[in-house]
This record gives sequence, structure tokens and C-alpha cells, in this order.
Amino acid sequence: MDPIRYGVSGVGAIALRSHMPALNMMDDVRIVALYNPSKENAEKGAALCQRRPDIVERYEDLLTRPDVDCILIAGPNFVHKQQTVAALGAGKHVLCEKPMAASREDALAVYDAARGARTIYQIGLEMRYSNFYTKMAEIAHGGQIGRPRMLLCKEFRWPFTSGSRGWRFDVRRSGGALLEMNCHHFDLLNWLSGSRPVRVFASGGNDVNADGMLDNAFITVEYSSGVRACLGYCKFSPYGNDIIELTVIGEKGKLDSSASNHVICQWGADRADRIVYNVAMDPSFGDLERESSQKERWILWERSMVYRQHRAFIQSIREGKRPFADADVALQSTLVPLAAMRSIETGDPVSLEQG
Ligand SMILES: NC(=O)c1ccc[n+]([C@@H]2O[C@H](COP(=O)([O-])OP(=O)(O)OC[C@H]3O[C@@H](n4cnc5c(N)ncnc54)[C@H](O)[C@@H]3O)[C@@H](O)[C@H]2O)c1
Repeated sequence: MDPIRYGVSGVGAIALRSHMPALNMMDDVRIVALYNPSKENAEKGAALCQRRPDIVERYEDLLTRPDVDCILIAGPNFVHKQQTVAALGAGKHVLCEKPMAASREDALAVYDAARGARTIYQIGLEMRYSNFYTKMAEIAHGGQIGRPRMLLCKEFRWPFTSGSRGWRFDVRRSGGALLEMNCHHFDLLNWLSGSRPVRVFASGGNDVNADGMLDNAFITVEYSSGVRACLGYCKFSPYGNDIIELTVIGEKGKLDSSASNHVICQWGADRADRIVYNVAMDPSFGDLERESSQKERWILWERSMVYRQHRAFIQSIREGKRPFADADVALQSTLVPLAAMRSIETGDPVSLEQG
């Protein structure tokens, strides 16, 4: 089978710690070219590859190469729109890191480009490909707890790093804290709810961290089916065993989950109805139990999910199949956090149609 040939744009933290190691575990993939404005990082990326890729001077050089089938876009959020639209326009398949873009207008432009393209567009919401949340969705949608009605997600974590040249702390370049990090969590809520988000109410502020970014909030999302979901977000939380806890309450049962502990617990009317699912990470990515640091545990888990998302992307390319994390998923996961930040600013509910 011919290898799928990648061009990589943006060789920073996530590319070096997860994408490149994951791609290097695959026999049917070759990274043929890298672009990063700082040569130092491009060299670090090249050193990780089994066969040395070319380092190119400009992003556009990836697009004109006939030996590049697909582009991994892993630069900062503010480059996602321009680089995605250009790559799709050049006939390349695209796997772009989340979020889809740094603003509503740009996200809609990417959506249109992806819908009009003949190549694959997949968004880097790797949790959609994790065995853990796949199992949770299977139960939530399988009828065991009845129709989902309420969802609660808690993301209590340590502060962000600033990103190269401080892009993450600059709302214009990142799109804001809730977009930058929480598109993942809103996407899980969107997926597990089984319907479309329509309206968002939120309250939050910057009360503790010196970086000036929103550091705590509660956000309520209403869905077209009448489902309600809430995200509790804190960015000054110390070590606390789990980063994401997620609950789905259905009409006849409930699911509680703790991703770091790999446990999903299904509850019914009686205690005797309890079922515990242990959904461990693939051991070839490392031993989560041996890692004492929450951050290290998170990175191993991230790498395993990134691996799975690339496998799905490659399968979509080979089979011409629409990806699970497609443009629609990408757009909804972008519009919800943007609406939440607007609701925090104005104090009013925000409908997704208005933005
Ligand atoms: N899926 C996840 O769980 C996850 C986790 C972390 C980061 N991310 C996303 O990955 C992206 C990168 O984040 P990071 O933490 O690696 O940031 P980073 O700042 O560590 O790395 C970004 C890299 O992009 C380079 N860059 C700057 N301008 C560029 C351009 N025009 N073209 C190409 N490269 C450019 C920088 O030099 C740097 O090497 C962001 O969109 C972020 O939201 C996703």
C-alpha cells in the first residue's frame, strides 16, 4: 500500500509531543516536508522522523509539492483559517488542530471551503476518537440510560502556557480561553447530547491568574432537543486527580465518568443496577499508572487519542469517507464557546444563529 505523505505546518508543543511521535509509530505514513517559521523547531521535528523530511521556507511550498497528499496544520489558532482554505484550494486533505478558526467569521469561511472541497477536512478534536468517550457515547446513545436530558462537565485544571510569542494569551490570536481549550468539552457535550446546540448563557471572569485570560466560568448550553448541559471551567485548580469529569443523566439512568481513572459508571434505579466499565488506554502508549504528574498522564492520553485520530483521517483519505470530526462538528464546537464568551461580556443569553 502506498504511504500517505504528510506535510506539517507548525512544529510547536502539540506537534512535537503528540503528532510527530504518533505518526512515527505508523508504517503507512511518511512525513515528507515541514514548515515552521522558526527553523529551530522545524529541526527538532525533523530529528523525530524516521526518514528526514525537507524543511521548507514558506507554508505555500507545502501546497505546491505533488508528493504531499495531506497537510497537518498545527500552528497557532490565528493561522488555521488561512492555511486550511489555502490547502483545500490546492487539493490537499487537511487535518487541522482545534479550534476550526479564531473567530465566527473565519470559522464560517472554513466551513464553506470544507463543504465545497473534494478532499477531506477533519478537525483535531481527538477526544472523538478516544476509546473512552467512544464507549461513553455508545452507552449514552444505546438506550441503556434512556434519552439523555442533562449533562454536566467539569474541567478544573492548571493555568495555560502562553504558546510561542504569547499567542494563547492574546484574544485576537487565540480567539479567547473558552475557544482555545474548551472547544473539546463543548464538543463532547454536543456529541453526547445527540442534538444541536441552540442557545448559551454564561457567567465568568478573570479572578486569580495574572495572565488576564478568563480563568473561571459556568456555561449553560441549551440544545434543540430540550437537553441542557453545563460546563464548569477553572484554570487555577491545583492537582486534583482528574481534569475532566463528565456526567450524562438520561430518563432512566445516569453515567458518571472519570477520564484519568478510565472509569465509566452506569447507574439505574437501584444500586444493584450499577455497572462499572473500565476503559483503559492502549498500553503501547505508556503506563498511565506509573506517571504521578497529572500533566504527564494527560500527555500520554493525548498522544494515544492523537494516534487514533490520524488513523481515522488516513482511513477517510483512503476510502473517500466523510470523517467523524467533520466541518459540521468543527463549526458547532467553535460557535458554542464564542457564544459563551459573548454571553459573559454582555450578561445576556446568546443564540448560536446570531453568534
Ligand atoms: N488537540 C489538543 O488537545 C491540543 C493541545 C494543544 C494545542 N492544540 C492546538 O495546537 C495548535 C498549536 O498549539 P501549541 O501548543 O503547539 O502552540 P505552540 O505555540 O507551542 O506551537 C505553535 C508553533 O507554530 C509555529 N507557527 C507560528 N506561526 C506559524 C505559521 N504562520 N505557520 C506555521 N507555523 C507557525 C510556531 O513557531 C510554533 O512552533 C493550537 O491551535 C492549539 O489550539 C491542540
